[in-house]
Amino acid sequence: MDNVFNFAKQLIEKANRVILKSYDKIRTISYKKGDFNLVTNVDHEVEALILKEINSKYPDHSIVAEESGIHTKNLKYQWFIDPIDGTTNFAHGYPCFCISIGFSVNNILEFGLIKNPLTDELYSARKNKGAKLNRKVISVSKIKTLRDSLLVTGFSYDRKNPKTNNFNNFRNLTLVSQGVRRDGAAALDLCYVASGKVDGFWELKLSPWDVAAGALILKEAGGKITKFKGKKYDLYSKEIVATNGFIHSELIKHLK
Ligand code: IPD
Ligand code: CA
Ligand code: CA
Repeated sequence: MDNVFNFAKQLIEKANRVILKSYDKIRTISYKKGDFNLVTNVDHEVEALILKEINSKYPDHSIVAEESGIHTKNLKYQWFIDPIDGTTNFAHGYPCFCISIGFSVNNILEFGLIKNPLTDELYSARKNKGAKLNRKVISVSKIKTLRDSLLVTGFSYDRKNPKTNNFNNFRNLTLVSQGVRRDGAAALDLCYVASGKVDGFWELKLSPWDVAAGALILKEAGGKITKFKGKKYDLYSKEIVATNGFIHSELIKHLK
C-alpha cells in the first residue's frame, strides 16, 4: 500500500500545479445537467491528467471520477476522483476549492488525500494510521453541545426541489448553534470537521467522489459519520452527517 499511497501523493501535487497555473487565467465555463451545475476547462484538464497517470501505472484499477464517470475494471481496487471540489468557487475566483483523491480495496477505504492549492494544505489519512494536515496529526474538536458548535453545510445543484433543498435544516440549525457556514466544497468541509475548525457537517445528495477521501480523513481524526437518522453511511448514501462524535446525536435530531 505504501507504493500506491506515495504515487497518489505525487499525483495530487502534479494536479495541484496545473490548478495553480490556471487560477489567474480565463476559464471556459460550461453547464452540466441542471441550471447551476457548471464545469470549467480546468476540471477536465486535471481529471484527464489524473486518469492518464492512474491508467498508466495501474491499468487494471477501477476509477469513479466526477467528469468522466465510472471506468470499471478490477473492482477490488477503486479510485474516487474529484479534480476540483468547489468548481463554482473556482470558476468565480472565490478562494475555496480542492482536489480530492480516495482509494479503496474491496470497498474499504485505504487512504484519502485532499489538497487545497491556495493554502498549500494537504489533508491525508491512511486506514488505521490517523489523519494529518501536512505533517501534523489532526483530530476533531472536543465541543460537546450544539449551542457551542460551529457547523458547515452545503446545497446540492438540484436546490429547486423543496424536499431535498436543505433550507429548513439550515434555518433550524442556525437557530440552535453558533452558526452554519456554507463554503461550497464538501471535501474541505469534511477536512474542517476532521481538524476541529468546525464541529459538524451535513449535506444531501453528495456523490462518492465528493466524500470518499474526506470520509476516511474524518474517521481517522476521530469523527463520526452516519446518515440523517443515524444509520450506517456508505459512499453512495444520499445524506451524510459528519461530526466530532460528541454532538452527533443532538445534531441529527434537527435534520429532516
Ligand atoms: C460540490 C461541492 C459543494 C456541494 C455540492 C457538490 P463540485 O461539488 O462539494 O460544496 O454543496 O453538492 O456537488 O461540483 O464543486 O465538485
Ligand atoms: Ca465535488
Ligand atoms: Ca468537482
